[in-house]
Amino acid sequence: MKLIWLTDIHLNFLNINQRMDFYQEIRANSGERILISGDIAEAPSVSKILKEMAQILQKPIYFVLGNHDYYSGQIDVVRSEMRDLTKNEALLHWLPASGVQNLGNQTILVGEDCWADGRYGDYTNSRVSLNDSHMIVDLYQSNILGKYSLLDKMQQLADQDAQKLKISLKKALKNQRPEKVIILIHIPPFKECCLHEGKISSDDFLPFFSSKVTGDVLLEIAQENTNVQFLALCGHTHSTAIWQPRDNFTVKTGAAEYTKPQIQEIITP
Ligand SMILES: [Fe+2]
Repeated sequence: MKLIWLTDIHLNFLNINQRMDFYQEIRANSGERILISGDIAEAPSVSKILKEMAQILQKPIYFVLGNHDYYSGQIDVVRSEMRDLTKNEALLHWLPASGVQNLGNQTILVGEDCWADGRYGDYTNSRVSLNDSHMIVDLYQSNILGKYSLLDKMQQLADQDAQKLKISLKKALKNQRPEKVIILIHIPPFKECCLHEGKISSDDFLPFFSSKVTGDVLLEIAQENTNVQFLALCGHTHSTAIWQPRDNFTVKTGAAEYTKPQIQEIITP
């Protein structure tokens, strides 16, 4: 089976004709299922765009959301929309709601949005202020209370998703005994796969571009299951990277450019 991996496609920046050109490229590809590791659009448009994709592509779409998908929105509200989509649209599967997917060939797929957690780099001295803390209601409200309230909120979100990932992975590994596991997340889980112009992002940006708690969970699980191959796919930095923290565990970060969505890779598990 061939999986078409997309990431950080930001389709809200394209007009309908440009989106159709991109869909045409995907339709022409022989991959049967689509994986998207977040940053599909923004909160007011993400449901509409996902429905459009499903209708035109006619292939199952398995996805997680990125920070941009929550822009101009509130996290709970967007997530509730995604649960509805997953329930009502046969081709759309938001992985945090649909749960672990069996892809056949002893391969399973699991995903959580995952959030940057400020634990890599130097949050205290970083003067970076991402749009996240202006554009996502929950982060905006925390940020008003100060830099460390924002950090608390980021870590709360990141820890919650990492914990969910841990629980569903452990359960699936025990019950389904797969040989391969594909993990879809938005934020790079290690600094080594969080690059800017070919180098590890600076200590100013790492707190917002990486999710240490997610990496810790995945590493622990890969260490406990040496006979299983793990592949994590993420995005967010728009900067391609491959990092193999263990023989049985590879992380790929996708490349992206605003207004130029692309097929990242055809994954053949
Ligand atoms: Fe992102």
